[in-house]
Amino acid sequence: MSEFHDLLVNRRSIRRFTPEPLSAEDVKQLLEAALLAPSSKNQRSVRLVAVDQPDTLKRLADCKPVAANAIAGAAMAVVVGADMTLSDPWIEDSSIAATLIQLQAEALGLGSVWIQVRDRYGFDGMPAEEYVQEALGMPDTLPVVCILAIGHPAEERKPAAVDKLKWEQVHIGQWSLR
Ligand SMILES: Cc1cc2nc3c(=O)[nH]c(=O)nc-3n(C[C@H](O)[C@H](O)[C@H](O)COP(=O)(O)O)c2cc1C
Repeated sequence: MSEFHDLLVNRRSIRRFTPEPLSAEDVKQLLEAALLAPSSKNQRSVRLVAVDQPDTLKRLADCKPVAANAIAGAAMAVVVGADMTLSDPWIEDSSIAATLIQLQAEALGLGSVWIQVRDRYGFDGMPAEEYVQEALGMPDTLPVVCILAIGHPAEERKPAAVDKLKWEQVHIGQWSLR
């Protein structure tokens, strides 16, 4: 198997992190991964906000009531959004960039998790997107897709079980009823 395949198998969502900060070189490579992402019509609609201040990380962790806690303990969060005026497939542009950041994190021996923001709601019913835009001073015209929580892993996850992959998701040649 290739090194890249190993990386895909070993990457698991990591939600607990050590307090160790990221090196400047790691931060650069993580952000570069997003900037290198393919984008529709090469419009590069993705917009990122990298955050490492503990107070801001805690604030972002409150963007929704469930499944956002990982942000509070992360060394860095990358808020992934897009300039939707540049590209109609801005969700795809942003998602590809976010995925590449996660793979780059794995390649650097870091852990990461995707925290969904788009179409999610906060404690008081406020859209999580609005909450994040307000917390970071982002324009309200700039949609937020997700926040990646990134850091040195403080938990071990088993690699994906390749022998349990659901091959029934895949149809070869044409769609077939099973
Ligand atoms: C679009 C998307 C939204 C997700 N939202 C969250 C989230 O809000 N909070 C969270 O803890 N994990 C979130 N995850 C991580 C998934 O729960 C995780 O990828 C899935 O359970 C598979 O586990 P693995 O990443 O370890 O393979 C999200 C992943 C994706 C791709």
